[in-house]
Amino acid sequence: MAERCTYKMFVSWSIYPRILCRSTCKGSLTSWYPVFGALILVLLLVLQLSMSVLLKTDDRPTDNYVQHVVRKLTELEYANLEAKSVSSNRAGSNIIDLCDAFPHALEGKIEPLSLLKTFPEVRPGGFWRPTDCEPRHTVAIVVPYRDRLEHLEIFLKYIHTILFRQKLEYRIFIVEQATGCTFNRGMLMNIGFLEAMKHGNFSCIVFHDVDLLPEMDDNLYSCSVTPKHMSVNIDKFDYRIPYDSLFGGVVAFSKDHFKFINGFANRYFGWGGEDDDIKRRVDNRGLTVIRPPDSVARYSMLKHGAEAGNKANPIRYFEMKRALEVQNVDGLSSMAFNPNMYKVLDTKLMDLYTKITVEIHKIEVLKVLPTLFPIRPRHPWISSKFRKFIAKEKT
Ligand code: UDP
Ligand code: BGC
Ligand code: MN
Repeated sequence: MAERCTYKMFVSWSIYPRILCRSTCKGSLTSWYPVFGALILVLLLVLQLSMSVLLKTDDRPTDNYVQHVVRKLTELEYANLEAKSVSSNRAGSNIIDLCDAFPHALEGKIEPLSLLKTFPEVRPGGFWRPTDCEPRHTVAIVVPYRDRLEHLEIFLKYIHTILFRQKLEYRIFIVEQATGCTFNRGMLMNIGFLEAMKHGNFSCIVFHDVDLLPEMDDNLYSCSVTPKHMSVNIDKFDYRIPYDSLFGGVVAFSKDHFKFINGFANRYFGWGGEDDDIKRRVDNRGLTVIRPPDSVARYSMLKHGAEAGNKANPIRYFEMKRALEVQNVDGLSSMAFNPNMYKVLDTKLMDLYTKITVEIHKIEVLKVLPTLFPIRPRHPWISSKFRKFIAKEKT
């Protein structure tokens, strides 16, 4: 009978011989071989079955699947930051549950019909927080602005509706540059950041052009573990990114990261360059930029021309060359060093936003920096018009 507990029996794949041999093999280890064998077999079968289920993709409903993955990705993207922002929000309140990281109200594509027309719940100054759950993020939305009322009205309608759905605690700051000085988008962002911090303990700041309307409500207006570029695919560029390092339009920074890179550069007057400059600052500090999935990071840009007070800045490429060299000098640091660089003229609590009107003093802004053109440029490729511009800059 002992023979029944041998290899021959092991390969017979049957448990039966093991039962037979139990009485005869008397505890010898070899008597357990068939059991081990059977167990290993069962394990292998289970493994194979689960692998085949996992790898089987043919019969998946593709659209739903893509939607699902996209949503999950966005959800995961933010998951890491939750603990951080939650700890400050939750102090003293454990009565209601934390809002979902990916709230149920999100539908993906925004139907204009679903946009609200009135916002009775928004408190003066454009502040809102959900009442049915504890928000995970406290966000300041900072918008650089001058004379685009038509855009502002549409923007507010979109943004409030979306932020409700995302269950964020937020406040909207419109930073308006008074007339008289060339528009300075970067500096308005810095002023917005500093002023916002006087109104609340925001852990996250979203810097947002007034003419960009998010097309998807699951493009979350909260901060990630690294700075985030949210307006990747814009209708104006046929939903294709014009160049890979683009970092303009809508970007989100944690408060700490924004301080860490010394904010935006203040020295870009007129259109262009300040967004490319801040991207260099981010890279230079070893931070990587995160982007939501392409199908989520979609925006429409409201139509506009080029404003007289915001002409393309002809020296932006020269300024960009010294981006890293002056990173520590030009930015939040210089604003603390020289308080005369700007003046807050007015802070008004409007129904749907806080309006901060500021005056920018160009001479004071540039004074803290080394001269950009120390020697008179003689290069033949510099046009006389440009020479005049530089001469004016130097005075
Ligand atoms: N902006 C403004 N008034 C101006 C110029 C610019 O409010 O006269 C603000 C506004 O938020 C706008 C942003 O600055 O969306 C960027 O300017 P613009 O839209 O002209 O630049 P684009 O990104 O379209 O090239
Ligand atoms: C400008 C940026 C701008 C980008 C896309 C670049 O040339 O420097 O400021 O965002 O073009 O329009
Ligand atoms: Mn625009």
